[in-house]
Parts: sequence; C-alpha cells; structure tokens
Amino acid sequence: MQSYIPLVPERASSFAWKVDALYFYLSGVTLFFTLLISATLIFFVIRYRRRSPYEIPRPVAGSHKLETIWTIIPFLIAMTMFAWGATVYFEQYKPPENAIEVYVVGKQWMWKLQHATGQREINELHVPVGRKVKLIMTTEDVIHDFFVPAFRTKADVVPGRYQTLWFEPTKPGRYHLFCAEYCGMNHSGMTGSLIVMEPREFDDWLSGNTGNTTPAVAGQQLYQTLGCASCHGASGEGGRGPTLTGIFGTDAQLQGGQSVRIDEGYIRESILNPQAKLVVGFGPIMPTFQGQVSEDQMVQLIAYIKSLHGESQIPARAPSPSPAR
Ligand code: CUA
Repeated sequence: MQSYIPLVPERASSFAWKVDALYFYLSGVTLFFTLLISATLIFFVIRYRRRSPYEIPRPVAGSHKLETIWTIIPFLIAMTMFAWGATVYFEQYKPPENAIEVYVVGKQWMWKLQHATGQREINELHVPVGRKVKLIMTTEDVIHDFFVPAFRTKADVVPGRYQTLWFEPTKPGRYHLFCAEYCGMNHSGMTGSLIVMEPREFDDWLSGNTGNTTPAVAGQQLYQTLGCASCHGASGEGGRGPTLTGIFGTDAQLQGGQSVRIDEGYIRESILNPQAKLVVGFGPIMPTFQGQVSEDQMVQLIAYIKSLHGESQIPARAPSPSPAR
C-alpha cells in the first residue's frame, strides 16, 4: 500500500495532502538553494582562481544594495514557511465541534481506546471513513506519542493532562499506528492499527460490540460510589459544591477574579487538586481524589460530566453516530 511518490507513506486523511504540500515546498526551497549555492561556489572557485603566484586581487568594498537583497529575500521566504506551517498546525490542533469522540489512554506498552458508545479496543481503533474523529488522549505512566503516518497526524500524550487530536479518514483500509516517543523497553512494540471502514460496515461493527457500558454511565456509577453527589448534586442538591449540570465548555468565575474554561483538563485538576482553582462562592472543603481515581476512571467521570445537559436521563448507549450521511 505505497503511494506513487516513493518515500512518502500512503495518504488517508484530509490533512495528508496539506502536510505533504508543505513538506514538498520546504524540500523544494532547500533543494533550490543547495543547488544555487553549490553552483555559485564552483563557478566562483573557477572564475576567480589565482592565476599566477604573485597575483594581488582588487580590494572588495561592501555593497549595501546586495546585502539588503540577500537579507530581505530569505526573510520573506522564511515568513512564507512560518505562515503556511502555522495555518496547517492550527487546523490540526483545533478540533471541530461535530466529531466522534474516542478516549485514548497510553501505558507501557499499549494503547487503550474507548468509544463514546462504550466499545473498548486495545491497540486497534475502528473508525468510519469521511467522519471527523477526535481523540482525547492521556497516559497512565510516561510520555508516549500517538502517530499515524498515513494520516500525517501525531501528538505526544503527557502524564497529568489531556491532549486532543483529530483527523478525517478519506480512504478505507488498515493503517499503521505506533508510539513515536521512546518510552522504555518495549517501546518498539507499542504499535497497532487504525481500521477505517465504510460507514455501514462501521455501524455493523459498533452494534456487534455492545455489552459495554458507555464511559458516561460508568462515570455516573463512580460519581455515586465516590460520594460526589453529596456535594455536587447533578441538579443543584447538596449545595456545598458547584452543580455539574451543563457546565462543560462554559467559563467558571474563580475566587480572585479570574475565570477558567471548564474543559477536560480543569475537571481533572479539580478532582486531583481541588484547591487549585476554587469557584467563587465555595469553600476549600473538597478532599483530593489523588490515588483513588485511575486514568480510565478519570475519563469516565469527565464523560459523565460532559453528558449532563440538564435533561433527566443519559442514554445507556449514545446514539449511533451516523445521521450526517
Ligand atoms: Cu509508548 Cu514509546
């Protein structure tokens, strides 16, 4: 499954061409100047060689005009690289709103993945072609790096924080996935596959893999067992902590006048280090849950809080992600 340009992996996502075009541009500029400078060098060596042992060259005076030109032209070229690179970068690292969400936890030495509908996978991820997929990634131990060359997409997963990554597969097939950050003895074995399926096939696959509770439902159970509800009632009861309904993605007012966007990272921090950013109007009474909540459970708690929109019930299985076709 090689592409027709040698040395370049197959292209299977909407980013692939954009990354490749930038890469070809960088290589092209590099090649052009390498040849230009080498040719000029060789030409000057021959043209201005010393012809007799007593030859004294004419003294060279500086030229402001030349110096200005060879400063401004490279500057402009460097700026095109910066602007183009930044555009591609921001597109890749700003996830779209309407993406399918998949939770990813790296650990020595495997990838654990879970769909919002509950299906779990190890070292494999099934996704439908033509849909945007957003990964919410973290790690249980050391830094790993999620890399799918055919998608031209790659990001470090760092302990203690969430990294998001998104892509839109454009071609069904099986693509290589691997860890691109040295993470210990079996780093080279931390590989897997991304399986891109036709949407119908994907729906069959999803429905054939039921029997798992969704992360949101598992999170709800945890929320009960950890006793969160006694302070953070889903609809305001308890009252000793802020209600959690409908807060995800909004801004919270903090003591001291600042505000913070309530995202995965903030929820995580508030569970592990509740005193770090106190919401205005609430005392520092919440205990830490450091050591009591694993990364998998953290993901479930976050999924539960995300699922709270103020409606009374959350579905046991999230709706099948297919209406967009
Ligand atoms: Cu995980 Cu290298």
